[in-house]
Amino acid sequence: MGRGLGAWSLLLLLGLPRSGAGDISTEKLWMVKERVVYGDDSGLPGPRASLEGGWGSGSGAAAPPAPPPASGLEPGMLAPAFTLDTLDGELRFPPAKEQRPRSFIFQAFTNKSGFLECLWSCQASLVALVNRLPQRSHVVFLSFDDSASTDVRWMKRQLVGVMEERLKNISMFKDLLSRLHFVPIPVYALGNWIPAIFYAWRCQDHNCGLAQVAFTSPELKLTVVAKRLDARYDWIMKIWRSAPYILRDGGDGCNISSRVKGAVAFISDEGNCSYFTKVINMATSQALGVLVYVRPGLPLQDMNCQGAECLTAINIPASIMHFQKDVIDALR
Ligand SMILES: *[C@@H]1O[C@H](CO)[C@@H](O)[C@H](O)[C@H]1NC(C)=O
Ligand SMILES: *[C@@H]1O[C@H](CO)[C@@H](O)[C@H](O)[C@H]1NC(C)=O
Ligand SMILES: *[C@@H]1O[C@H](CO)[C@@H](O)[C@H](O)[C@H]1NC(C)=O
Ligand SMILES: *[C@@H]1O[C@H](CO)[C@@H](O)[C@H](O)[C@H]1NC(C)=O
Repeated sequence: MGRGLGAWSLLLLLGLPRSGAGDISTEKLWMVKERVVYGDDSGLPGPRASLEGGWGSGSGAAAPPAPPPASGLEPGMLAPAFTLDTLDGELRFPPAKEQRPRSFIFQAFTNKSGFLECLWSCQASLVALVNRLPQRSHVVFLSFDDSASTDVRWMKRQLVGVMEERLKNISMFKDLLSRLHFVPIPVYALGNWIPAIFYAWRCQDHNCGLAQVAFTSPELKLTVVAKRLDARYDWIMKIWRSAPYILRDGGDGCNISSRVKGAVAFISDEGNCSYFTKVINMATSQALGVLVYVRPGLPLQDMNCQGAECLTAINIPASIMHFQKDVIDALR
């Protein structure tokens, strides 16, 4: 108990590129560099829960690695007992004798993850849970962050909103709601064996960790770090390299632009054109990558292709992130 958040903030600070580092070119433009932060407790369970629970398509995470023996628990073992305080009262395992057998899926949120933010904001993934959660399966929703209490209330609102639209049958609505458990206490503070499992059985391959983008400018002596969500579809195969890139304004990306050649195109989500059109325009303009930012107040979205678009391979990486006023001001 008590180690989780300390580890996070420390790692985040250590990971920051130092401003004014010697390897930054003299060009007075912002640079963009990909990076991923890992923490001791970065066991983001989203992709794994989705595979087992049939919820969405996951992020391509590898099979769960074998946990170190220190956790004392291994896949296939009978889960030890637990008691959790939820928004709707106490949840106990094993259940009282008269109850039907149940299986539990645990999912912990952190808003430091663009993937989880999108998963919980996007109608399609919420609908998939509402429509496809197997009968008798229960899901326990938690948060890694200190804001767990507000996080899980928000998660519950997101899900209940979709359930109200989709589940007109009251008894089905009540049955599903009784199988969704929202725990308003951060994972590190649960005080039972569950945090150890989250930290030990963590995702260890690509697409794990908290994908970020760091902007630095020798001129402004400022570093801006933002979470990013990588496009992860068949049509975008390239991943970011870890060396710095030059960043240039590509407008809304609905037109070809000679400015972005040899640079990363920074484009808005506005304009009457799809993400596919934006990315293909920037690839045609010989950009090395694309960063789309969403307008203030909007959540990160999946950058998806439609129909025949998905057959076109694109050979530059693309990610989506939040609006960054400092970066935009410096570019324009
Ligand atoms: C998550 O973070 C984004 C900004 O990065 C913010 O707009 C959003 O409100 C946050 N969501 C929650 C549930 O805290
Ligand atoms: C609601 O769903 C239950 C279980 O599937 C079914 O038995 C019941 O008839 C349904 N009620 C209505 C009003 O459709
Ligand atoms: C962008 O392209 C569209 C159609 O492809 C055109 O109508 C529009 O004028 C262009 N805008 C700029 C600023 O070039
Ligand atoms: C472009 O605008 C038309 C008409 O307003 C609309 O039907 C279409 O969905 C828009 N396309 C995109 C990609 O926003």
